[in-house]
Amino acid sequence: MASSDTPKRYHVTTFGCQMNEHDSERMRGMLESLGYGAAETAEDADLILFNTCSIRESADSRFLAHLGHAKRMKKERPGVVVGVGGCWAQSVKDEVFARFPFVDVAFGPGQINKLAEFLTADSLSAQGYFEFEGFPAHLPTKRDRSFQAWVQIAVGCNLKCSYCIVPSTRGRESSRPFEQLLDEVRALAADGVREVTLLGQNVNAYGRDLRTTEPLPEALLAFSEAAKRPTAGTRPRTFAELLTAVAAVDGIERIRYTSPHPKDIREDVVAVHAALPEVCQHIHLPLQAGSSRILKRMRRTYDKQRYLDRVAMIREQCPDIAITTDIIVGFPGETEAEFEETLEVVDAVAFDGAFTFVFSPRRGTEAAELVDDFVPHPVKVERMERLVERVQHHARERTQRFVGRTLEVLIEGESRTDPDKLRGRTSHNKVVNFVGFGQPGETVPVQITGATSQTLSGEMSLLATLAG
Ligand code: SAH
Ligand code: SF4
Ligand code: F3S
Repeated sequence: MASSDTPKRYHVTTFGCQMNEHDSERMRGMLESLGYGAAETAEDADLILFNTCSIRESADSRFLAHLGHAKRMKKERPGVVVGVGGCWAQSVKDEVFARFPFVDVAFGPGQINKLAEFLTADSLSAQGYFEFEGFPAHLPTKRDRSFQAWVQIAVGCNLKCSYCIVPSTRGRESSRPFEQLLDEVRALAADGVREVTLLGQNVNAYGRDLRTTEPLPEALLAFSEAAKRPTAGTRPRTFAELLTAVAAVDGIERIRYTSPHPKDIREDVVAVHAALPEVCQHIHLPLQAGSSRILKRMRRTYDKQRYLDRVAMIREQCPDIAITTDIIVGFPGETEAEFEETLEVVDAVAFDGAFTFVFSPRRGTEAAELVDDFVPHPVKVERMERLVERVQHHARERTQRFVGRTLEVLIEGESRTDPDKLRGRTSHNKVVNFVGFGQPGETVPVQITGATSQTLSGEMSLLATLAG
């Protein structure tokens, strides 16, 4: 427990991706187990924490504005402890204390547990923790929603995408043990969780670094070359078998994951999507660029055709599945013709949605050193506008296929736009605002009556409910 002269109320601000959201849940869980309580705002907190992201420059600047605010708070209340965790902290490491002397503790994404060490130490002098260790699985979590949970299946990333800061902030890839993950999912299900999202930088690399003597499930044997060639009675684990095992856990109704890498999204994973109703009808498959030359400069290790082949393979087995993506515009040296190849792929695939980003040079990455002789800023902005317009056009068209259908919707709460309606999500990851009744966490049938590029609207299907 925290002693009487240590801070008692904490506030965490989270930036970045779902991994950071999940790490923040674990920070909160850990702090509460140390006797801290949650403060509504940073102004009310004795311990002000930031869980940071550095994926693009905009993420850095957003965070630095918050840090400036923390500095002012610390001036007013010198007893406040300011902590900075996550990817930005890792990427600037010990420089943090020279540049921001009011920061008391800084730690990388793998070092949440060290925060406890720091807070329970006798003296709270400035400390930094930046080792890459395994996943501290023992930490408790404090989830925002009782029925949804994240499960981190691997840490780190072994790829070297030339624009990306993540390998340097999250370290080498390491899969968490299969049984440990299943125990975690069983415990979550027993705690009321119905939907899990498996997290990893390259989820389909899961298990390559693990070995087991267990036979592969019958349904997956046909797909796995590596599993068919065991070394001394052992074989690697596969992501497809993890999905299969998680789907078999009692109480788990939906499984999502993010993100697979297009170079190795394989038939076995797609077959699992086709066969198991628990595995959601959605794959987020980051494209990044449509031009093979740019993909090569990005070190993505697939080309345009291979990406299109993967999409064809997915659609052949799962014709209704939603496919979403990430795209970067204005990579150094991207010509107009190369940008148009991105538009071509967008048209050929007709994504259900896309996150689009303007290239942002990141410290220490290979692409930050490339000479950008083709893409002045206004051109990037103009390309972005054309891309967004095209992405939205397809997203709008794609959602029309749901109109008239009755879809299973997991209720998440009240609609954000109309308090008389409920808000939920389909297996395709589409948000639905609908007239109906039920509690968050319940799955109900909803007849879809309207669709925009982003959301669906509908009415709960009473006949289907009564029949069920
Ligand atoms: N590991 C995940 C992605 C993590 S980052 C994956 O590979 O799918 C999420 C997205 O941010 C990336 O897919 C990419 O589109 C974008 N991104 C990463 N670095 C970027 C940079 N330097 N500039 C612009 N966008 C970037
Ligand atoms: Fe970054 Fe590429 Fe790894 Fe994703 S796969 S985290 S984009 S290096
Ligand atoms: Fe996530 Fe940002 Fe780190 S996207 S992995 S928190 S750099």
